[in-house]
Amino acid sequence: MPEAIRILDSLGQQHNLAFDWTIYPWGTEYFLKHGEMMPDNGLDLLQDSDAVFLGAVGDPKVPDYVTLWGLLIPIRRALQQCINLRPIRSFLGVQSPLRSELAFDIDMVIVRENNEGEYSQMGGRLYANTPDELAVQTAVFTRRGVSRIVKVAFDLASQRRGILTSATKSNGIIHTMPFWDEIVEETSRSYPDIAVRSMHIDALCARIVLRPQEFDVIVASNLFGDVLSDLAAGVVGGIGIAPSANIDPSRTHPSMFEPVHGSAPDIVGKGVANPIGQIWSGAMMLRHLREEAAADELERAIFAVLDDGSTLTPDLGGASETCSVTNEILDELRVT
Ligand code: IPM
Ligand code: MN
Repeated sequence: MPEAIRILDSLGQQHNLAFDWTIYPWGTEYFLKHGEMMPDNGLDLLQDSDAVFLGAVGDPKVPDYVTLWGLLIPIRRALQQCINLRPIRSFLGVQSPLRSELAFDIDMVIVRENNEGEYSQMGGRLYANTPDELAVQTAVFTRRGVSRIVKVAFDLASQRRGILTSATKSNGIIHTMPFWDEIVEETSRSYPDIAVRSMHIDALCARIVLRPQEFDVIVASNLFGDVLSDLAAGVVGGIGIAPSANIDPSRTHPSMFEPVHGSAPDIVGKGVANPIGQIWSGAMMLRHLREEAAADELERAIFAVLDDGSTLTPDLGGASETCSVTNEILDELRVT
């Protein structure tokens, strides 16, 4: 996060753009001190901002469902960030685990439903610690929520290569997934120029590994989108560079920008975390704030560093430190 702020502040100077940062220390350390991830009025505090820039949260000292259901998920919901955009691209300097003839020219966006679906609090547990113990969790799919995400995906596909893939599982999940497919089908009638296909999530996973270039926009439910975004990030070489945008399309609330990856507790304090997931999320934030020129410039600089491939952190097979990657991006920004 400090490295991403360093980049944005520097870029801002070139674009006559000043960031007025309010820093909230809401992480696991805060939880261990205060017994909560954020104060009671935390969500209200965030409302006062134009955007939220979130770093990765979580620590082995506290169960992940406590840290995430105490911060990330309530923010996504209360601020009605129902759209999650996750671009994935291959770069010349980033080695993919696929054979090189399979791994070029990958450029897709996963459009993930972000407020409902499988991530629902509906359910509970009964008969704890007995042989009859059971847990039930209900997935929630609303016409409003599904239509909204599907429409966003069609619109995005119209601005890109015009190819939309819908992630489904209507052969095994008997209620929600046929409902999802019907809404995709209905919506497609308004987009005659988009090539749309539905793929069952299992087959889709195999296809993303075997033919990643085929994909342009993929629309998926909350859980499917979550899983696909790590899979696709792995296919292009690593999750450390993957950015995301949690968008409130009504712009009533601030949207939130965060890397796809987690907090990587194994490398804390070593100075080798890959800063690019966070920095690229910053570029998505600039675009959302309608600072297109600055967003373009920052993306160009990030992509140049990744295509070059000589300054990479160890997660991508390099030997550089976090701040060297940032410095490379800053150098690129000065050149352009
Ligand atoms: C993500 C993360 C979160 C999610 C976790 C941390 C709750 O994996 O943003 O992809 O599943 O949404
Ligand atoms: Mn995830």
